Amino acid sequence: MATERTLSIIKPDATKRNLTGKINAKFEDAGLRIVAQKRIKLTQEQAGEFYAVHKERPFFGELTEFMASGPVVVQVLEGEGAIAKNREVMGATNPADAAPGTIRAEFAESVGENSVHGSDAPETAKEEISFFFSGLELVG
Ligand code: TYD
Repeated sequence: MATERTLSIIKPDATKRNLTGKINAKFEDAGLRIVAQKRIKLTQEQAGEFYAVHKERPFFGELTEFMASGPVVVQVLEGEGAIAKNREVMGATNPADAAPGTIRAEFAESVGENSVHGSDAPETAKEEISFFFSGLELVG
């Protein structure tokens, strides 16, 4: 399997509860390397741009309001099959369905406030990484 990069976000519910280190340990324990990382605060408009694919969904307003409600940590994770591996470590969208030991099973509060985001495919990973990071911020 090829080395990939994927975009991860530690969401406001998790930064608020000071869980960044515990979540990063899950990534590193799974063999994912954090090759770029920064803590930022999005406006609701920026959150809407990032989640534009969900614009017509009933939860869009709540989702963008939540994503702008506090700091997030945006990061690039690298590793063998990093996109699928990251989603495995994250667990299912709804924490009630997430496998034991996954980030969402251990830390997420609800389907909306579910602690982490991870790209779902190579094309979206590429787009999402360049949404937050310039080439200069990505070390090899
Ligand atoms: P989605 O892309 O389906 O899930 P994932 O984050 O696992 O890739 O949805 C994006 C986010 O939208 C999800 O993390 C939380 C929010 N969301 C809700 O608030 N309610 C919902 O019913 C769904 C499906 C998602």
